[in-house]
Amino acid sequence: MNTKVRSFPNGFLWGGAIAANQVEGAWNIDGKGISTADIAMNKKNLSRGDYKKHNSVSEEQIKETLESDSSKDYPKRRGIDFYHRYKDDVSIMGDLGIKALRFSIAWTRIFPNGDENHPNELGLKFYDDLIEELIKNNIEPIVTLSHYEMPMYLVNNYGGWTSRDVVTFFENFAKCVFERYKNKVKYWITFNEIDSIVRHPFTSGGIVPERFNNIEQAVYDGLHHQFIASALAVKHCKEIMPDAKIGCMLTSLLTYPHTCNPEDVLAAHWSNQFNYFFTDVQVRGAYPKYIERYFNEKNIIIKKLNGDDELLSKYTVDFISFSYYNSFVTSADSEGLEKVSGNTMGGIKNPYLPMSDWGWQIDPIGLRIALNNLYTRYQKPLFIVENGLGAEDIVSPDGTIDDEYRIQYLKSHIEQMHEAVLDGVELMGYTLWGIIDLISYSSSEMEKRYGLIYVDQDNDGNGSLERKLKKSFFWYKNLIKLNALT
Ligand code: BG6
Repeated sequence: MNTKVRSFPNGFLWGGAIAANQVEGAWNIDGKGISTADIAMNKKNLSRGDYKKHNSVSEEQIKETLESDSSKDYPKRRGIDFYHRYKDDVSIMGDLGIKALRFSIAWTRIFPNGDENHPNELGLKFYDDLIEELIKNNIEPIVTLSHYEMPMYLVNNYGGWTSRDVVTFFENFAKCVFERYKNKVKYWITFNEIDSIVRHPFTSGGIVPERFNNIEQAVYDGLHHQFIASALAVKHCKEIMPDAKIGCMLTSLLTYPHTCNPEDVLAAHWSNQFNYFFTDVQVRGAYPKYIERYFNEKNIIIKKLNGDDELLSKYTVDFISFSYYNSFVTSADSEGLEKVSGNTMGGIKNPYLPMSDWGWQIDPIGLRIALNNLYTRYQKPLFIVENGLGAEDIVSPDGTIDDEYRIQYLKSHIEQMHEAVLDGVELMGYTLWGIIDLISYSSSEMEKRYGLIYVDQDNDGNGSLERKLKKSFFWYKNLIKLNALT
């Protein structure tokens, strides 16, 4: 039996993570505007792993959705009713002992259309209360400014993030919440998985592909604007709260070569380098040369304004946060090779790795590699702000939920995280994804559960919404108490 005790540094931020659009519900009350997440369809019937369909949007769908007031078909509209139940939920999290909760602020609660001059007080009031409650429960708030949502008004009237005007609207939003929470929130994250705009331009950038002749150009316009908006957020954060820490957020997409054929190794190298492109800009402060070559070859032109280069180089981030769920395999020629998929991208099947119920390849050692790679490249503090297992959980007749598989998943990843700390990686914390069951980002399903706290609701929104504690809850509670994996 392995009885090794793996202790973590003092002050390590053990926590949980959620996003406004996946938990809050209350999509059309207290002045909230309609966001891109409110039009995400229930895709429970799509085959698992069909990540392309999960992430698509069409003009027709937008029209249909805006005319509907259903929250059965659009589950993010109902979430898990965190908007009304946050007090009880935070109290359960307090009992769990988490030191930090990563959550996002819905832009549409504060600026319903996005371009208003004055914020919606009722929206701010919700976050005032939530933050107050967290502090009361000794939970550090970690706020993401943008997690997969933006006002639909900006999508329809400005073209989403392709418009430079949106940078100014976002800047106003960021300044507004910085001023409001400057004495309460020390940790901020700008854009969730900023790299994801290239994979799903609508959910990350409010870009409807059908509306653009050259979608790739539109995506990189949107991305440049997000880079600038992120740099401006860093600037204002530093001016308003000199002691706060603000980070970027990346999807870790660690990729292995299918074989040791140099062609495959080069393909994997490119995938990894492309994954670092985003942090290269946000941490090192400039577009790297390799991406300029890529843009030249594809005739993509980044429309920089005077002062953009300076903003990028001056306002780099304090820490790098990232999500890690799985690793990938690529090859120079993948024809005929068996494929697998995650939520927003796929690759070749890795025969050495097991898979989740949703076909995601589980690779704890990959987390150690990802941590080492990021730290070697940047020497900046790292923060794992998403990691977890989406699975179908069964409630036994006696009401208990034995999710031993989730404990094993978390344990194996935390073990490797500890190895990385021993390797010398500076790690601030770990906020596991979906601390409480929530609506899936990609398919808007409910029954793909990540939580340690169960929520009684099915894919169609039936259920009492009652919260129950899973076996993993007690396991994580003990780990946090000991600040060690035993
Ligand atoms: C991350 C997102 O990519 O993956 C989360 O930041 C998301 O919002 C998580 O929920 C898991 O993906 P999914 O599609 O299973 O919910």
